[in-house]
Amino acid sequence: MILNELLAAGDGFVSGTVLAERMGVSRVAVWTHMEKLRAEGFAFEARPRLGYRITRTPTEVSPLFLKTLLSPEWRELPIHFHDTIDSTNSEAERLLANGSETPLVVVARAQQRGRGRLGRQWHSADSGNLYLSFVFQPRLSPRRMQTFTLWMGTAICEFLNKGEQVPAQVKWPNDLLLDGKKIGGILTEARVDHDQIRDLVFGLGLNVNGNQESLPPELRSTATSIAASAGEKRCLNRFTGALLTCVMEAYREFTNGGHEEKFRSFWPRYDSLFGKIVSAHHGTARSTGIARGINDDGALLLEQADGSHTEIHAGDVTLEKAQA
Ligand code: BTN
Repeated sequence: MILNELLAAGDGFVSGTVLAERMGVSRVAVWTHMEKLRAEGFAFEARPRLGYRITRTPTEVSPLFLKTLLSPEWRELPIHFHDTIDSTNSEAERLLANGSETPLVVVARAQQRGRGRLGRQWHSADSGNLYLSFVFQPRLSPRRMQTFTLWMGTAICEFLNKGEQVPAQVKWPNDLLLDGKKIGGILTEARVDHDQIRDLVFGLGLNVNGNQESLPPELRSTATSIAASAGEKRCLNRFTGALLTCVMEAYREFTNGGHEEKFRSFWPRYDSLFGKIVSAHHGTARSTGIARGINDDGALLLEQADGSHTEIHAGDVTLEKAQA
């Protein structure tokens, strides 16, 4: 409440006495709360008779700030914060094993063992970027969930393009690209029970304000961040607040089936591969063809020289060199 009052006042001052009266607490209690806010990266100017005003908001994800930025519908969503953790997906699994109530979100400022698809590492040292895992218990059939990651990728692209003016695209099946470079990745992990998805961990890494120099040299030509591409940083907390709302709403639309029409229009809009010659590596096999979108099961369609389509259900896709 104190933070809400100070944020609502903008550049103006809020008197400590007024704050204490409104909250029904002592001035010492107000001061103690201000210290907590300072520890999360806020800075204040204090003037005799005028009170306090905010002079700086946190540049890293701040639990207290984020809470004030969530829409009322999601304000009670349990968010588990960590300065650093092995992997938010692993922490999500531990919370599930301990019987935590779902949905829930795990957020970390850094990960020591961030992981990606196919056993790859996810570089997670830059606290300007986002490392998040959402935990859901959808109780839907695995077949019904086949397009979940693809839908979520396009919903996040819609949020980035329309809400944040970031021209991001999706690269089948789980990458988010900006200017042809990777800005994000999705790792969806599920536990199936009696032919139903019981637990679903939706992990998302998104390079928002990360510095190019903080990336390992071998990733600098293939990865970027929103800030590195646009030349300016965003308020990470406002961005995260809006992203959480996007993910929660997209999940709800998916589970109640209301997403289908949107998905059909989003996929061609955000598909980075369409019309390109790509190679798909699946198991030990390799198929090359012109990417022609996806089918109803979410399989990538590769057009062959004879006009037929090869369906790729899982695997890794690379652009053929000449157009990369
Ligand atoms: C990929 O591109 O292969 C997917 C990368 C997913 C990375 C995110 S970061 C948050 C969450 N925790 C993890 O350990 N991985 C995912």
